[in-house]
Amino acid sequence: MKLTIAWTAVLALLPYVFCKTSTYVEPTVPTGTPIAGNYSGQLRPQIHFSPPKDFMNDPNGMFLDGNGTYHLYYQYNPTGTVAGNQHWGHATSTDLYTWINQPIALYPTDNQTFVFSGSAVVDTNNTSGFFPGQDNGVVAIYTLAHYNADGTAGPQTQNIAYSLDGGFTFIPYDKNPIIPSTSSQFRDPKVIWFEDHWVAVVSYAVEFTIGFYTSPNLRDWTHASNFTPHGLLGLQYECPNLVSMPIRDSSGTKTGSAWVFQISINPGAPLGGSIAEYFPGNFNGTHFTPYDPVARIADFGKDNYAGQFFYGIPEADDAISIAWASNWQYSQSVPTGPLEGWRSSMSLPRRNYLTNITRVGVVMASTPYDLSPVLGGVIASNSSLENGSLTVDYCKVSSNAVWLSINATGINSTLLTSMSTVNFTFSSATTNESVSGGFYFAADSHFFLDRGKTKGFENPFFTDKVSTTDIVGNSWSAEVVIDRSILEVFLDGGTRSATQTFFSNEPLTKLTRGGSSD
Ligand SMILES: *[C@@H]1O[C@H](CO)[C@@H](O)[C@H](O)[C@H]1NC(C)=O
Ligand SMILES: *[C@@H]1O[C@H](CO)[C@@H](O)[C@H](O)[C@H]1NC(C)=O
Ligand SMILES: *[C@@H]1O[C@H](CO)[C@@H](O)[C@H](O)[C@H]1NC(C)=O
Ligand SMILES: *[C@@H]1O[C@H](CO)[C@@H](O)[C@H](O)[C@H]1NC(C)=O
Ligand SMILES: *[C@@H]1O[C@H](CO)[C@@H](O)[C@H](O)[C@H]1NC(C)=O
Ligand SMILES: *[C@@H]1O[C@H](CO)[C@@H](O)[C@H](O)[C@H]1NC(C)=O
Ligand SMILES: *[C@@H]1O[C@H](CO)[C@@H](O)[C@H](O)[C@H]1NC(C)=O
Ligand SMILES: *[C@@H]1O[C@H](CO)[C@@H](O)[C@H](O)[C@H]1NC(C)=O
Ligand SMILES: *[C@@H]1O[C@H](CO)[C@@H](O)[C@H](O)[C@H]1NC(C)=O
Ligand SMILES: *[C@@H]1O[C@H](CO)[C@@H](O)[C@H](O)[C@H]1NC(C)=O
Ligand SMILES: *[C@@H]1O[C@H](CO)[C@@H](O)[C@H](O)[C@H]1NC(C)=O
Ligand SMILES: *[C@@H]1O[C@H](CO)[C@@H](O)[C@H](O)[C@H]1NC(C)=O
Repeated sequence: MKLTIAWTAVLALLPYVFCKTSTYVEPTVPTGTPIAGNYSGQLRPQIHFSPPKDFMNDPNGMFLDGNGTYHLYYQYNPTGTVAGNQHWGHATSTDLYTWINQPIALYPTDNQTFVFSGSAVVDTNNTSGFFPGQDNGVVAIYTLAHYNADGTAGPQTQNIAYSLDGGFTFIPYDKNPIIPSTSSQFRDPKVIWFEDHWVAVVSYAVEFTIGFYTSPNLRDWTHASNFTPHGLLGLQYECPNLVSMPIRDSSGTKTGSAWVFQISINPGAPLGGSIAEYFPGNFNGTHFTPYDPVARIADFGKDNYAGQFFYGIPEADDAISIAWASNWQYSQSVPTGPLEGWRSSMSLPRRNYLTNITRVGVVMASTPYDLSPVLGGVIASNSSLENGSLTVDYCKVSSNAVWLSINATGINSTLLTSMSTVNFTFSSATTNESVSGGFYFAADSHFFLDRGKTKGFENPFFTDKVSTTDIVGNSWSAEVVIDRSILEVFLDGGTRSATQTFFSNEPLTKLTRGGSSD
């Protein structure tokens, strides 16, 4: 087999620009101006979005506007490094890697009613009537979570706010809520346009049920169907998504399209804590029908939750998603809080499509969205490494972010032995810390990731290793992106992917490729 390998510096295109009816603004939270961020910390990702300061969780309201600008909103506590006091933070980008922090977009309505997760759409046809003379009006659809005076959870209702300026500032609808409720566990509306009407999927979290609602105008909603317990349960269903995406064959050619229905589960995922599962299937405007009862997991790492798909991506293109790169088991304890004053980043933006793989059948592939805007020069490459190992010192790469590409071709399965492996280790200069991964080509073809040799964070649920299996044909590939405190891998064309955070005391600046090609 032939192994081709390349390390490429990822040069974050700094500078980041450091960037209502009734609205409640805490005195310490600024309005109309972006919160300033310090992105120079050793643990601070450079090409993954992270908030200017304080605590972030779910991505919200993601849409692509008519000018080619991607809008990312996010669950945000601007007053502390743990969850609480939820707002919608906001950032924009034209390449999905270089983000400009914008002023907070949605504020709590009072000091006991917070803005939870939701989505946003562009109402190009003015179906809502909020946008006379405009084709770029934006409507945000979100949960307001009320807390009682004694701190217990009150009702969660679905609400809308509209934006006349393309998604920067929002005016809450004066007849909110649009979907009332007395339940304290009813949230995370995700809205799409289907042929001639709007569709919202909303989670009845502890009933393991997703409600499907329809609307002609985003204001008036009718319950259309329920999707009931299916696949893995955990303890709650959250953040549902319904999205159409291309089906591609093994050569990448589009052969059709299908619907993907995704649900995030927390807590109680098989690996512990938070995870996302998805079901490919059919959607007819009111009912989703999965192809089969199988639960497919979106990412085999521990840090990929609440993923959302962008609204407004052209029908012919791959879907694009971003997830929260953390896990509720430890997100509020990670050391970036005390050390650098922020917690949590997003995953890389991912292109998503469906493909049919050996034995497993239909899966959703994830590959990094076009990295070229942030790629620097190739640091090292070798197309004939064979049994050799190669060590590269990338301490001069100021972003401390690197893309590694490995291609194995000409694999002959009858010649594979337990020695047929490829692996990589990112290590520190003096603290003996490292993060590693590797693939064993033979037999069940296991791939592992190990973050246990980093010393910056101890937590019983911050488990060291994850693994997956991947039956190989005559070629195999891996893409790895490491970015200060987050590592993502995309195996075999993205048919397996994993997101793992890690916290080292010293930057990892050296890469070693080992293994044996026979
Ligand atoms: C691996 O293959 C992909 C797809 O053909 C290509 O984009 C990438 O540059 C290759 N990597 C190496 C190290 O040759
Ligand atoms: C930004 O953060 C770095 C690392 O945490 C710190 O050394 C530096 O003093 C900070 N800069 C400002 C202006 O606060
Ligand atoms: C595109 O940008 C222009 C100039 O900032 C603005 O006037 C227009 O509303 C934007 N269009 C959309 C669709 O957001
Ligand atoms: C919330 O606001 C009410 C009314 O302004 C005030 O009485 C109460 O003390 C506030 N509670 C908190 C926790 O700030
Ligand atoms: C807008 O109207 C056109 C023409 O009727 C229709 O094809 C399209 O689906 C509508 N889109 C939205 C988002 O309302
Ligand atoms: C948008 O809807 C409002 C309310 O129905 C209406 O007054 C306005 O004329 C509409 N504008 C357009 C361009 O359709
Ligand atoms: C959608 O599917 C449901 C369940 O199979 C069915 O009851 C409904 O009639 C279908 N709607 C359309 C428009 O085909
Ligand atoms: C996937 O491919 C296999 C082998 O070619 C085929 O038997 C199976 O029907 C395909 N599955 C789907 C859902 O297309
Ligand atoms: C690589 O190592 C294997 C196992 O030790 C050996 O059989 C093979 O000949 C080596 N290949 C080369 C090109 O050195
Ligand atoms: C690639 O690696 C092989 C085996 O370690 C070595 O013999 C060769 O010189 C390397 N080629 C380059 C261009 O570094
Ligand atoms: C794989 O290796 C076996 C054993 O050496 C050989 O007979 C076979 O022709 C090889 N297959 C290919 C496709 O090269
Ligand atoms: C990588 O492979 C080499 C050669 O098989 C082995 O010596 C080394 O321990 C492996 N490293 C990891 C991290 O698995």
